[in-house]
Amino acid sequence: ATHSNLSLDVRSGLMLDGVPLQAIADEIGTPCWVMSADTLRKRAAKLHNAMKSAGLSVSTHFAVKSNDHLAVLSIVSQAGMGADVVSGGELIKARKAGIPASRIVFSGVGKTDAELRLALQEGIAQINVESAEELEILSGVASSMGREIDVALRVNPDVDAKTHAKITTGVAGNKFGIPYDEALGLYRLASELSGLRPVGYAVHIGSQILTMEPYRAAYGRIAELVRVTRQAGLPVTVVDCGGGLGICYRDEGEGSPEALAGVIRSELGDLDVHLAIEPGRWIAAPAGVLLASVILRKKVTEGSPFIILDAAMNDLLRPSLYEAWHGILPLSAHDAVLAPEEACVVGPVCETGDTFAQDRSLPPLQRGARVAILDTGAYGAVMSSTYNARPLAAEVLVDGDRWSVIRPRQKVEDLWANEILSEGMRVEA
Ligand code: LLP
Repeated sequence: ATHSNLSLDVRSGLMLDGVPLQAIADEIGTPCWVMSADTLRKRAAKLHNAMKSAGLSVSTHFAVKSNDHLAVLSIVSQAGMGADVVSGGELIKARKAGIPASRIVFSGVGKTDAELRLALQEGIAQINVESAEELEILSGVASSMGREIDVALRVNPDVDAKTHAKITTGVAGNKFGIPYDEALGLYRLASELSGLRPVGYAVHIGSQILTMEPYRAAYGRIAELVRVTRQAGLPVTVVDCGGGLGICYRDEGEGSPEALAGVIRSELGDLDVHLAIEPGRWIAAPAGVLLASVILRKKVTEGSPFIILDAAMNDLLRPSLYEAWHGILPLSAHDAVLAPEEACVVGPVCETGDTFAQDRSLPPLQRGARVAILDTGAYGAVMSSTYNARPLAAEVLVDGDRWSVIRPRQKVEDLWANEILSEGMRVEA
């Protein structure tokens, strides 16, 4: 993996930028998410430079679903990104973090009337529409408010991104997008409906994509659609290229922004359209780690021992849900140099799926040892729950050699703060 933000100091142990992670764990306990502001800034800059070097002017909209902390949104916004949102909640958070409405695009297969009204009220840049039904609904809502909005049609290009089945979105038969063959017809419909200004097409084929072939195939099909649409006399000024660029969790290599820029230029560069991308994971995943402590090391008669952490699937769901591989490093320099053994790293939640790593080669970590689970800055904290009545973990932001808590650990009382008991049910401690 490309962890230029991590280093091992003989005395302080594992450092994220200029901060010893042990110091954070000592002070606020574990489990705890830690994000690097520098990494977010550097990766946003790298992506922008790649697009610029390819001679492209591309708007970048950060996929808010990957990490919606206000501090993260504010940093990526200051680094020049807008936002791709998929709910009213994300829209409001993006605005709260200072992202102007003119740089917000709203995606998703099912937006409620209330969410559409909010988008229209805020005057966001564009709504990506995914069905004929949604076009009609949006037209109704916009007309009733006396407003008009730019609309892109999200097309399903029927291209297999060859990524995990649960995160592939661009093949025929899944719920996303408008079937390719229906796109032109719906574009015409959109141009006839009141309240809508069809401006172009959007495509997103999946996530954690490492090779350029699926992108090339998808963008090639969109370029063709743009030409056909123009031949039909309908103007097209926007192509939204979606997100999905992958990172290196293990040894798979990282999706290259330069290669992506090259594909965008070669497939879409001569169309004279405004281009946009919606990266989430590529920007945020390598910026974050999840700190955890070893509760105990459980020996077994056969096979690898269990290292039971105080972090669990309710904190980081990716390994359980997608069999995702995340690097695990000890925080102490002393642990880091011990001869490795094979171990199963699990959480304390009552499910077999609560496993972070199977037969992983790790130093023999004893009770109290601490680890960092790597590349958890995207689809980490946002996917947490309080399953097993486990309060949401604390979040910390590292900026250079300083750090601060950006979300305190949830208090246990907060778990029932909104629960209502009817008369007679009250249980006093
Ligand atoms: N645009 C749209 C329309 C999307 O649906 C997504 C992600 C993105 C952009 C950003 O994709 P990215 O650049 O982050 O790959 N929870 C899963 C990932 C789900 C992605 C959903 N859509 C995971 O942890 O792997």
